[in-house]
Amino acid sequence: MEHMKRTSTCGALRKGDQGKTVILNGWVHRKRDHGGISFINLRDRYGVTQVVVDSEADPGLANVSGELRNEFCIAVEGVVRARPDTMINPEMPTGEIEVAAGKIVILNKSEVLPFQIDAEGSEESDAKEELRLRYRYLDLRSLGMQRRIKLRNDTAFAVREWMSGQGFYEIETPTFIKSTPEGARDYLVPSRLYPGKFYALPQSPQLYKQILMVAGFDKYFQIARCYRDEDARGDRQPEFTQIDIEMSFVGREDILAMTEGLMGYVFKKTMDIELPARFVRLGYEEALERYGSDKPDLRFGLEIQDFAPYTAAGEFKAFKDALSQGEADRNAAASKGVTIPGGGVKALVVPAKVMGNVSYSRKQIEELETHAKIYKAKGMAWMRVSGSDAAPVLEGGASKFFAGLEKQITSGLGAKSGDLILIVGDSKRKIANTALGAVRSKLGRDLKLASANGAEQFVFVWILDFPLFEFNEDEGGWEAAHHMFSYPQEQYHDTLEKDPGAVKGDLYDLVLNGYELASGSIRIHNGELQKRIFSIVGIPPEEAEAKFGFLTEALKFGAPPHGGIAPGLDRLVMLMAGESSIKEVIAFPKDSFAKNPMDDSPGEVERKQLEELHLSIAYPKQQ
Ligand code: AMO
Repeated sequence: MEHMKRTSTCGALRKGDQGKTVILNGWVHRKRDHGGISFINLRDRYGVTQVVVDSEADPGLANVSGELRNEFCIAVEGVVRARPDTMINPEMPTGEIEVAAGKIVILNKSEVLPFQIDAEGSEESDAKEELRLRYRYLDLRSLGMQRRIKLRNDTAFAVREWMSGQGFYEIETPTFIKSTPEGARDYLVPSRLYPGKFYALPQSPQLYKQILMVAGFDKYFQIARCYRDEDARGDRQPEFTQIDIEMSFVGREDILAMTEGLMGYVFKKTMDIELPARFVRLGYEEALERYGSDKPDLRFGLEIQDFAPYTAAGEFKAFKDALSQGEADRNAAASKGVTIPGGGVKALVVPAKVMGNVSYSRKQIEELETHAKIYKAKGMAWMRVSGSDAAPVLEGGASKFFAGLEKQITSGLGAKSGDLILIVGDSKRKIANTALGAVRSKLGRDLKLASANGAEQFVFVWILDFPLFEFNEDEGGWEAAHHMFSYPQEQYHDTLEKDPGAVKGDLYDLVLNGYELASGSIRIHNGELQKRIFSIVGIPPEEAEAKFGFLTEALKFGAPPHGGIAPGLDRLVMLMAGESSIKEVIAFPKDSFAKNPMDDSPGEVERKQLEELHLSIAYPKQQ
């Protein structure tokens, strides 16, 4: 049976439509009965329209209307009329009209809902995440989810629009590929035709996009699904989407400018927000020294400062030891030709005004110290500033070790009366920086500094000049800081093997509001150089040949200089929507245990399927 097909959506009708007979299709969002009159808020993807049912005038209509419950799917035929002035709802785009129902057909009933779609006064359901994901189709009906999925659609569309306008081709790369490690664990797909062999799902299209450059495509992009078997976090999913980009005959500046152009277009087109034409830039080391992070949130200041000058003059032994131990380690490494940074003592001044002029209690400071310890700090010293600018006083905590240095410290650090000074020292400079950086981020969150008056909503920053290699203390070897295909800056080519720790790569990250939004690099386009990198990260030539031979071979055939970048689409939309979990912008995400409570995946399969795949399961032993 043909249902009463809509002539209008629930978001379209305005005052000018008065007098028209229309048919609306949608879901009963809310229903209120007032004596003989019922008001139904009818909802679809486009909006909400108020439908009025005068039950006294039409008993047949009253019967149908009486049956209606939330989320019944219905068709309504009626006449558009202006609402009385006192009933106009300026919050609703359709708030000036209502539809006086003449006929209502129930297209489908709904069971009693496991949760209310939008909690009263909110655009979101207030159900627990497990329930939201179990009944995702209901959760997706909420205004908030509808708005975010629309934003995701608009963003992807704007990306495609801009990229094709700039001459990029969107080219699909395979999702069944060779297992080529890229940092995380692969998801594997067993081959039925070749017993014991597996495809892997791509962690990213990295090698394929490089090979497309060898193939001469010059400007490639793809809104690409990526798969990584790693623990889920707020900004991570096992299955996610990248705006994957690669270009030939370019240098770093070209990729940065292209990305700035893309972001500028997307923000303007989807949210009418004007981004700066160029984003702020920080060197990796400078980012660590000033913010204790390679993904600093620059919506607020709170910069980390050097406390080493006061350490020498003061009496705090742990800090003095950290510096001398760091120096000894640095000299020992230098005698072997290896560069390491040495020790550091760093300070963070928390101004009284950002603490709301209430000084942090000892307990609150201890909580910050516990947080610093998660990031390997051995402890965190603190002092409070009082007195005046001319005669400052340091109180509490470690202040007694710095007697006589009050003026020097407060004017050096720019600390005023009421401010709190937090200090971390370590023989490994990176630990002092990152532990204090973590405290800075926590203060930012706790004190809501990023959303304070005057703070900008979206602050992008480029982090440049990353080290190419990182030393893995646990496994005792060098590994690629980004991935193995990034180009070492020219000046280090002669000393790659001798001093890997000093090598900087042509790598860049784009950071937005404290999240790593995108990573990229200029690539190695020379097979020999690529082999040297494999060898430094401990991949023997046979293994490199077996795993990456197809890339190194392709590089031998006139590979052009090339580079690229990949912004995460989920993270981008999450930040645009002001959310802190990418699940809020993915239609069907996995939960924190990599499961989907709606379809109950991962699930068991039949024995026959396993046999066809030549697999048997070795269940882990019960603990
Ligand atoms: P990278 O591994 O840094 O680089 O990833 C690029 C961007 O992808 C997003 N991202 C994720 N988003 C959600 N869940 C995840 N598990 C996840 N992992 C990464 C982030 C990140 O910045 N091939 C290179 C890019 C290149 O060099 O061109 C790559 O994949 O936003």
